[in-house]
Amino acid sequence: MSSQSEQSPVLTAIFERRSVRQFTDAPVDRKRVMEAVRAASWAPSGLNNQPWRFALISDPKLKDDLAGLTRYASSLRGAALLVAVFMDKESSYDYVKDCQAIGACIENLLLALHTQGLGATWVGEILKNKEKVVELLGLPERLELMAIVIVGEPAHRNQSSHRRPVEELIVLDK
Ligand SMILES: Cc1cc2nc3c(=O)[nH]c(=O)nc-3n(C[C@H](O)[C@H](O)[C@H](O)COP(=O)(O)O)c2cc1C
Repeated sequence: MSSQSEQSPVLTAIFERRSVRQFTDAPVDRKRVMEAVRAASWAPSGLNNQPWRFALISDPKLKDDLAGLTRYASSLRGAALLVAVFMDKESSYDYVKDCQAIGACIENLLLALHTQGLGATWVGEILKNKEKVVELLGLPERLELMAIVIVGEPAHRNQSSHRRPVEELIVLDK
């Protein structure tokens, strides 16, 4: 972690956030979740078109049915809440740019959940069944699934991760 992060809560959150896949049985506080979703909605988007939409799923039967659509079933089942993030195709103006905006939105969501003491993981593997998710939730076809974020009270904070040194990532500096 850089020394700069000590001065910046945003950098601290970026460097400290880890994907959390094990949770306690505790329900998550709705206020904290809504605040995180609000932070997600403050991501930048091309033309400020705000193409993201969210579904909040805490019903055990629905969670279980969604879990059946991914090999990360146990992570979905163990999370108190699932936040499904969609692109509203009717709000979309450029598919790539809208995907990028929704990526930024999901990162905001993860960081905001983290800063509020909640654990979360971005689950993309379920996209192989994205149409089935929309159908299962009874949502209109204009919503395209972008990810499911699993959310809960972390069972522990032992997660570690690594990144390549930044020097290896710079392809031009002149
Ligand atoms: C587009 C995308 C898809 C991902 N899909 C999954 C997934 O399906 N299941 C999972 O457990 N983690 C998934 N992750 C989380 C990554 O595995 C995780 O971010 C990465 O290993 C780095 O770990 P960290 O988030 O703890 O730093 C996904 C992350 C992204 C950005």
